[in-house]
Amino acid sequence: MSLIPATAAYVEAQFTGEGSGHDWAHIRRVWQMARRLATATPGADPEITELAALLHDIADWKFHGGDYEAGPRAARAWLLGLQAPEATIARVETIIREVSFKGLGVETPVSSPEAALVQDADRLDAIGAIGVARAFAYGGHKGRPLHDPAVPPVVHATFAAYQKNTAPTLNHFYEKLLHLRDRLHTPAARAVAEDRHMFMEAFVAQFLAEWGE
Ligand code: ADP
Ligand code: NI
Repeated sequence: MSLIPATAAYVEAQFTGEGSGHDWAHIRRVWQMARRLATATPGADPEITELAALLHDIADWKFHGGDYEAGPRAARAWLLGLQAPEATIARVETIIREVSFKGLGVETPVSSPEAALVQDADRLDAIGAIGVARAFAYGGHKGRPLHDPAVPPVVHATFAAYQKNTAPTLNHFYEKLLHLRDRLHTPAARAVAEDRHMFMEAFVAQFLAEWGE
């Protein structure tokens, strides 16, 4: 079986029904978006882009005790089982290491056009209406309040500080989501982000107006 359909079927089986925002539907959207962005981005290898998009959350550090090598390791094991070429495996591993947001004060540079596309596609799924829904789904999963005006947003200067964060969910908009538009790599992704960003700004403004402080 070729690598992409086999990997899609595997990831779908692993993630269907996952409730924290890292479900198969998220991964499928990121996969489709990465594929779409790849057609508008010269120099990106579509197969590498699609494989990395499918495997980008395969063992997220947030759900594996902070072990951020768990994802690359799981992707390697899966692709080895499919007898994928070593070069393909190594490129996918590198992209998975580079994709995650690590705090507002931490740069997350990418080392390939494919990594730029997967990071952009993942970040586009964190903004807009779906981004709002995912943020509160994640907060609910972690038992966090929607908002607490007594807890101000902070700029996380290190990945460790970002990982330890337990703030109310609305803070996540100031600590990550409202900054993603300006950190995208590709023009194709920036075009998609515009609407989603404006929607999120309107959402936060209305939320605060209804909160009444
Ligand atoms: P990343 O690995 O870059 O954080 P993912 O695509 O793996 O991104 O998904 C993380 C999802 O969970 C995103 O929608 C993100 O906004 C949400 N999330 C992560 N941390 C928080 C948080 N502290 N509060 C609310 N939502 C969060
Ligand atoms: Ni993701």
